[in-house]
Amino acid sequence: MRSFSLIFKQFSRSVLLIACFAFLGFSAHAQGDAAKGEALFKAKCTSCHKIDQILTGPALGPQLTEETDDKYLIKWIQNNQALIAAKNAKAVAIFNKFEQKSMTVFPELTDADVTNILTYVRADWKTEQDQKAKGGATPNGQPAAATGPSNTVILALFGVIVLAFIIILVLNRVIATLERLLLKNQGALITEEEVEGPVVDRLAGLKKLAKNKKLVFFVLLCGTLALGSWTWVTMWNTNVHQGYQPVQPIKFPHDLHAGAMKIDCQYCHSGAYKSKNASIPSLNVCMNCHKVVKTESPEIHKIYDALGYDPQTQKYDSTKMKPMQWVRIHNLPDFAYFNHSQHVKVAGLKCQTCHGPIQEMKEVYQYSPLTMKWCIQCHKRTNVDFKGNAYYTNLQQVHDLLKDGKPVTAALMGGIECGKCHY
Ligand code: HEC
Ligand code: HEC
Ligand code: HEC
Ligand code: HEC
Ligand code: HEC
Ligand code: HEC
Repeated sequence: MRSFSLIFKQFSRSVLLIACFAFLGFSAHAQGDAAKGEALFKAKCTSCHKIDQILTGPALGPQLTEETDDKYLIKWIQNNQALIAAKNAKAVAIFNKFEQKSMTVFPELTDADVTNILTYVRADWKTEQDQKAKGGATPNGQPAAATGPSNTVILALFGVIVLAFIIILVLNRVIATLERLLLKNQGALITEEEVEGPVVDRLAGLKKLAKNKKLVFFVLLCGTLALGSWTWVTMWNTNVHQGYQPVQPIKFPHDLHAGAMKIDCQYCHSGAYKSKNASIPSLNVCMNCHKVVKTESPEIHKIYDALGYDPQTQKYDSTKMKPMQWVRIHNLPDFAYFNHSQHVKVAGLKCQTCHGPIQEMKEVYQYSPLTMKWCIQCHKRTNVDFKGNAYYTNLQQVHDLLKDGKPVTAALMGGIECGKCHY
């Protein structure tokens, strides 16, 4: 009997170990290199490349399946101009194939960064191919949430725990039976148990289970782990509205206007370049075209109704005007200050870096998580361009003064700029 409990002890210990390793393994996988690669790819490459489609540059999925020399690719991505200048045959070939359009150079990317990007692109392309092979279409444009442990990881973890629990239950049962058999053989089985029947027997079994300290500990541990991970994920995702896509009063298609027709974002969201808010265009902007375009569409008639415009008489009736109530999608809490012009004009970021492929969206959804972590991570990774920026020229002056041991006034630090004291 001793040996049974010994075996049981060893077994529970290994199950515990397996469960722990499974947990660690899964979490390590979730934050693997492809994730880093994805972030870099989205930040630096999506303006010219798609994985499955030719844009300014080649579709990277097929391209990277064809071109497997990573050493060459790393050199290409870090500084393609150097390769072309050195008359590298491959580089010159692709350069000519794409009508000598030039790709940006990325000297700031390390070899590891580029490898991460390559890993991500290849993995993404492979998943897409696999999905196609299975006949399942990719879900329409919705971004995969890339933050935190995924649902699969949690499900898998949960599965491992349940499985371990079942195995332990079954084994405990087997041990109990074997113990009873042994006792019976020794003629020491207490007659009470036999007469009391199966119900009491089961109860007694449960009681015995409850007394098994290792088992109780294990169950408690599993429970705590499961509850803990659930709480962790729920807390992280509280107030994160990534993917939020409300129903708008007019189904305004960005893919048509900003994509197919290539109307510049600035045409409608001019605020983004000169102020804090990007602003939503007034319906009069729409009328520049829709006075004559698609005049029969019921969606366009919603514009007419809101403006009190009569397409027959082509007259406006201001008494019938009512505001268009667009539902706000991106919304930071009031205590966080975000300024568009600072990012679009000064830092020169593309709208798509933060808002994703808007030009392909039928209806806009929130692409980025808009969490503080998201802001901070980009601030840590993005280099600031000091050239031609009065603010930084000023900082340079302050720096030089300090270096020479001269005093620096509050005025030099921006203390006479109106915006520092006035809202
Ligand atoms: C400004 C647009 C632009 C950006 C940004 C850009 N590329 Fe390119 N890329 C191109 C063009 C155009 C080509 C085709 C070759 C040429 O004309 O120079 C190309 C070619 C490539 C190739 C094919 C090289 C070969 O020989 O097979 C790879 C790989 C590549 N790009 C990766 C990247 C990665 C990774 C990034 C982001 C870090 C990136 N590109 C960012 C425009 C761009
Ligand atoms: C013809 C006008 C027009 C153009 C061009 C246009 N937009 Fe819009 N945009 C709108 C309107 C109207 C809305 C509000 C309705 C909606 O959310 O779909 C909007 C909403 C948005 C939103 C969501 C706002 C919110 O509530 O959080 C974002 C982000 C956005 N646009 C980005 C862009 C970007 C980036 C481009 C350029 C690639 C662009 N838009 C081009 C008219 C335009
Ligand atoms: C520069 C011209 C232009 C501007 C500005 C413009 N649109 Fe359009 N819009 C078009 C054209 C052209 C089409 C038709 C595309 C097609 O289907 O051939 C269209 C199509 C649409 C459609 C789809 C109609 C349907 O039934 O298929 C909607 C909805 C729409 N626009 C709403 C708006 C709104 C709202 C605004 C203002 C925020 C706006 N548009 C501004 C040119 C414009
Ligand atoms: C650095 C990231 C970033 C970039 C780049 C960026 N946006 Fe935004 N955008 C945001 C955030 C964050 C919000 C939410 C702001 C808030 O709630 O105060 C937002 C909100 C918006 C809104 C909703 C209305 C508003 O003004 O708050 C529109 C429309 C919009 N952006 C359009 C654009 C356009 C067009 C561009 C490119 C010219 C652009 N954005 C570039 C991060 C960005
Ligand atoms: C895609 C990258 C990116 C994201 C995302 C981003 N920022 Fe920035 N942000 C920048 C860059 C680059 C600068 C520096 C601009 C400059 O002055 O050259 C900057 C500057 C700023 C500044 C001015 C700092 C100073 O000392 O002048 C503030 C404030 C700011 N960001 C707030 C935010 C907030 C809030 C968010 C999240 C809602 C955010 N940013 C998201 C790239 C980003
Ligand atoms: C160091 C902080 C500071 C700076 C910088 C500053 N102001 Fe002021 N300003 C104030 C204070 C404080 C008051 C209120 C004084 C009072 O009520 O007597 C004020 C008052 C004003 C008023 C009068 C408002 C009223 O209702 O009487 C105006 C207008 C004004 N400022 C404009 C500006 C402009 C324009 C700039 C940039 C050139 C600027 N300020 C820079 C601190 C500042």
